[in-house]
Amino acid sequence: MKTPFDLLQMKQANEKISMLTAYDVCFSRLAEAAGIDLILVGDSLANVVLGLKSTRDVGMSEMKLFTSAVCRGALTTHVVADMPWGSDHSLDQALLNTADLINCGATSVKIEGNKSAIIRSVVKDQCPVMGHIGLTPQTAKSRRQTGQTKEEANTILNEALELEQAGVFCIVLEHIPTELGKLISNRLSIPTIGIGAGPHCNGQVLVLHDVLGLDPSRSPPFAKQFESLEQKTIEALSSYNNWVKSTGID
Ligand code: KIV
Repeated sequence: MKTPFDLLQMKQANEKISMLTAYDVCFSRLAEAAGIDLILVGDSLANVVLGLKSTRDVGMSEMKLFTSAVCRGALTTHVVADMPWGSDHSLDQALLNTADLINCGATSVKIEGNKSAIIRSVVKDQCPVMGHIGLTPQTAKSRRQTGQTKEEANTILNEALELEQAGVFCIVLEHIPTELGKLISNRLSIPTIGIGAGPHCNGQVLVLHDVLGLDPSRSPPFAKQFESLEQKTIEALSSYNNWVKSTGID
């Protein structure tokens, strides 16, 4: 299981870090078998699993359920659990909810946005925290790339530096310009994990459904697809349907 120290060493050795979302026992087992470094139980499950509009539509009960399932499938992989919208708005809530996700089997939690004061206390409470800045879906008003203006870029860089000071072991950078991804990755000692943040980040995170091409019409433009399972799955299910209707039942 990759520890924060292992990830730091990977950055120093220029070895890229792989992170992939998973939401259930089956795919966390497969991600582990594929050698993925970090499995993220993302609040993106609101969109890709539950068909809800916003990641704000899931709370702690869903995150605990899905985190427990993922941890049952990935026994030797570092599992990061997302803190859902509203779960970290006060320090008391954040301490309680991070402890709950660790009790479900998560190795660490991811907190979206520059909540450095809260993050400092959670880290002090012995819970490893991953940051997440740039486009932050829990609060973003649009899916546009952030950090394009000098002012925005400076804000994101300063947030990254503050989060590092607060004690996060790693930061996700979502949908920011390549040059900003490079600048932040060079300025920080801790690793950066990009999604739509260019090739200079120390690692990459993608959503499972995007990687497998399960529902490409919903994928963001910066997603990368490594298979086209939508059509293949429909074909397999049609074969089953046809077999039942024509050949009979076994
Ligand atoms: O919820 C999620 O899947 C995420 C990744 C896109 C980083 O936060």
